[in-house]
Amino acid sequence: MAKRKVTIIGAGHVGSHVALSLTFGDAADEIVLVDKDSRKAAAQALDIFDAVSFAQHGTAVRGGDYSDVEDSDVVVISIGMARKPGQDRVQMLDDSIVMCDELLDSLKPYKFPGIMISITNPCDVIAAYLRRGLGLDSRRSWGTGTLLDTARLLRVLSANTGVARSSIQGFTLGEHGESSMIPFSLVRIGGVPYCDFGLDDDEILKEVRAGGWDIVNYKLCTEFGIGRACASMVEAILRDEHKVFPASVSLDGEYGERDVQIGVPCVIGADGIEKIIEVSMTDEEKSEFHNSCDVVRKNTSAAISKGKRGVQ
Ligand code: 2OP
Repeated sequence: MAKRKVTIIGAGHVGSHVALSLTFGDAADEIVLVDKDSRKAAAQALDIFDAVSFAQHGTAVRGGDYSDVEDSDVVVISIGMARKPGQDRVQMLDDSIVMCDELLDSLKPYKFPGIMISITNPCDVIAAYLRRGLGLDSRRSWGTGTLLDTARLLRVLSANTGVARSSIQGFTLGEHGESSMIPFSLVRIGGVPYCDFGLDDDEILKEVRAGGWDIVNYKLCTEFGIGRACASMVEAILRDEHKVFPASVSLDGEYGERDVQIGVPCVIGADGIEKIIEVSMTDEEKSEFHNSCDVVRKNTSAAISKGKRGVQ
């Protein structure tokens, strides 16, 4: 059987936790960490490889280089600086674009046949920028988008209702950022509509959005939640799970939107995005979603005009 290989570019807090989380499952046979600082990538890999002694499955973990993308099933991009206290994700754009341009130059000599998942913030904009720069198919390249915000939504709803997260269905959609939105009309808690619980929508949305801030302000990065979130997407590909995740994908008429890459529910399997699910929203929710699309579209145009390589 062919080896299932995942390369993670960016071996900082986030990339290393994607790798660690993947070693707990048996989805990947080989995980390679790549970083501009190759000694750090090798050291992170060795540290994670020690943890494999306590895992069910003997995943190989090592440091590598950019050529590793050539035979990888999945490539995760987690380059960039950690978000600073008080800094919103869009304020990270200038630094992220410089790093993406460097990365695109480094990857230029290599074929990129695998599926790309990008985490770098601002997530939707950078996922679109890298997809264009690498010339990847929109169904084989996306951002983690509002998957993390959805994890936070489940955490907050569970805390407010006492119902286990696994029995709650709902998504945060739109930008992975300050314009994210929650289609509350679709949320079901143990099968019961969200509106029957008498919760305050604005408070829930505020708490979900603040989730990232509360973490960044006191530990100066987020890593565990996003590490596990991204690893679940990678597992859905490697195990051909056909599972539904909110992912930041390029829209081509879905939801009446084009020229924007943003978080919507998608079925993910071995071929990548198998289907974009168009959920029905109320008029108010639709307008929040379109507003979020406008924000991301504007920031993506700004990124393309700032960067060297995004316009191909
Ligand atoms: C988060 O929301 C920083 O985007 C990252 O945790």
